[in-house]
Amino acid sequence: MTDAIPQLPSYDEPALDAAFATLAEEVRAGSSSLTTVEAQENFRLHWLGRKQGRLKLISDAWLKSAPPEARKPLGMRFNQLKQQIEQVLEAPAAAKPAATAVQGIDITLPGAVRRPGIAHPLLETMHEVVRVFHQLGYSTNLGPQVESDFYNFEALNFPPNHPARDTQDTLQIAGQHTRPSRDRLLMRTHTSPVQIRTMIAQAPPIRIVIPGKVHRNDAADATHSPIFHQVEGLCVDTNITFSDLKGTLDHAMKALFGSAVKTRFFPSFFPFTEPSADVQISCIFCGGSGCRKCKHSGWIELLGCGMVDPAVFAAVTAERRKINPDDDAYNPEKMTGFAFGMGVERIAMMLHGVSDIGHFYSGDMRFLERFA
Ligand code: DAH
Repeated sequence: MTDAIPQLPSYDEPALDAAFATLAEEVRAGSSSLTTVEAQENFRLHWLGRKQGRLKLISDAWLKSAPPEARKPLGMRFNQLKQQIEQVLEAPAAAKPAATAVQGIDITLPGAVRRPGIAHPLLETMHEVVRVFHQLGYSTNLGPQVESDFYNFEALNFPPNHPARDTQDTLQIAGQHTRPSRDRLLMRTHTSPVQIRTMIAQAPPIRIVIPGKVHRNDAADATHSPIFHQVEGLCVDTNITFSDLKGTLDHAMKALFGSAVKTRFFPSFFPFTEPSADVQISCIFCGGSGCRKCKHSGWIELLGCGMVDPAVFAAVTAERRKINPDDDAYNPEKMTGFAFGMGVERIAMMLHGVSDIGHFYSGDMRFLERFA
């Protein structure tokens, strides 16, 4: 290591760059032999020693005669040099084979690529559905996955022991038998309980979508999973008709699957809507002429919907009257509404041509990378 204070021919930028390049090289050369703790300490004292350290001596010498405008560029370069020295010192002596210390940054090595993450395809699909309704003026509501019997079933017009409950068997939270049946907790089987929660909290008009996770006692196969996702919708106002429901869902299906898609409504049953319907869309794979995917019918069933049953308004009113005995916001004589619920996995499978629902949960990067 040399101890002489280098000469600075001038203070213009090229001269500074050249002088500091020489110093940086000096640091690099010195760092190559730091294989012991002792050598490392000597290196530190040589460069950073507080009184006689080379950095201090050089900076004193150069700064003293520097014109004022050169102080900042000088200061910046001294800081960089100091950082370089500190980096050399941060690496443990034993772990610093001479070769890597000499090399510094090897620009021929492949870079450390940090790949950006993406939303999971199911979340992305859920957002897409929600976005379609946001554009129609709907807002979003969320509710708990651990739900009470009241919200999940009773208020939605599934009385205790009603056979419609059989289709929505689910996990019950343990140790609940001493509680009244309406308070017993379970994993929610659908997002519909959030309809009730919303109406109890808010007077009409209501236009909301409810995305979320739901749980059922279903054996896993290519199209079923005991945990899956739904997007629910609820619209309550005066003079809402079945035509509004049809128009809204027809628009939503065209927005999701393309404007060529047709919809049709089939009579169905849900305890909380009357009348109820299943919505089918024309097969997006064959355009309606019939193929394996639509079981040669030309139609694919996609969601449930209907007009809000007056019994639901009555259950909501009974709850609201516990707070305000005069509440009449959901008087079934005046209020009308529609609701719908759709499975996110099914939509994602159709949009992306995925034939096994299990891919979504496997965490297999080869599958997930297709969506990057
Ligand atoms: N909750 C129903 C289910 O999970 C789906 C559904 C059907 C939701 C009709 C609705 C509706 O809001 O009106 O099977």
